[in-house]
Amino acid sequence: MSAVPPGAAEPVAAPVPGFPPPPPPPPQPTNVVEADEAAIARAVELLRAGELVAFPTETVYGLGADASSADAVAKIFALKGRPETHPVIVHLADPDALDAWAGEISPGARKLAAAFWPGPLTLILKRAPSVLDAVTGGQDTVGLRIPSHPVAKQLLAAFGGGIAAPSANKFGRVSPTTAMHVFNDFIHAVPLILDGGASAVGIESTIVDFSGEHARLLRPGGVPAAAIEEALGEALAAPDESAPRAPGSHASHYAPRAQVKLVRRVEMLETLSSHKGRRIGALALEVSVPRLNQALQRVVPVVAAQYAHELYGALRALDAQNVDVILVEAPPKSSAWQAINDRLARAARHAAEGETT
Ligand code: TXA
Ligand code: MG
Repeated sequence: MSAVPPGAAEPVAAPVPGFPPPPPPPPQPTNVVEADEAAIARAVELLRAGELVAFPTETVYGLGADASSADAVAKIFALKGRPETHPVIVHLADPDALDAWAGEISPGARKLAAAFWPGPLTLILKRAPSVLDAVTGGQDTVGLRIPSHPVAKQLLAAFGGGIAAPSANKFGRVSPTTAMHVFNDFIHAVPLILDGGASAVGIESTIVDFSGEHARLLRPGGVPAAAIEEALGEALAAPDESAPRAPGSHASHYAPRAQVKLVRRVEMLETLSSHKGRRIGALALEVSVPRLNQALQRVVPVVAAQYAHELYGALRALDAQNVDVILVEAPPKSSAWQAINDRLARAARHAAEGETT
């Protein structure tokens, strides 16, 4: 019997007798475009027309809109499924723009801006009067960041204004670190996804709040808290009741579809060898390599920066295999791992709370 029924489209490769023809390679999505000069010019046109553009940053990919257009920013919330009261970060090209967006800039904030921008740091400052409620979620503060990724820099410089951008994932899900991660969440709903390669840092920016009396750490991230304290010359306070709302600090964020369980290596290996019926994914530290080499298992380096770079891609890859549970070997607890442990704890808590957002 022929593998190709009469009238069917010609397969790409000749069929091997007795085997079905190989499936054609998936087409390159038309909205994922290498971020060359022409693509950046097109991105600027779209932003000016009030459309959304996904773009790479050194932390994760962002879903960008013109921060001075309430209608454009509203599209971000609609597409992500994000509640309107959750503020978005405004990305700027250079520190000179700071005064146009922030009302009060304390000496501490200026110190951090000088030390870490462009880079994976977001400052929460009292907003300038012109900043839209759509961006701030109605709060009197605004989150500002100057990214260091060359494509983000070129885009911001060419656009000339602020770009409001949360991470380019569906609300509550794992942030994207490649253009294809963005495509997998939104398919063709985002008109243009600029491809600038894998994000070097791999987890979101550190958020420091300067709207109160003391600088407070709202979210650990790409810049270690210790480096911030050193530049600041004082300790960061922990967020308290009066801190501005940072929805990314809810447990429901950064979660794959599968249940995530943080375990020690012994428990991971025992579960893998004894489980029945369930599809178990595993994210193991590199030292475990000899026992873990199957399709559902990913091995990640025991160096915090490299681990962060690979974390979201590994979680997404395991999730895509429809596993029931992802066992994550608990990484070290030292300060270099703070942001990673923060994200893993949220992903695990999400599962425990049974949230579905
Ligand atoms: O690395 C990053 O920060 C990435 C890239 C794209 O820049 N962006 C990002 O955005 O992670 P998003 O929206 O996924 O997370 C930003 C966090 C949210 O938890 C949000 O609530 C908080 O920053 N945030 C933004 N503006 C704020 C404000 N005015 N006050 C308090 N929290 C704010
Ligand atoms: Mg996010």
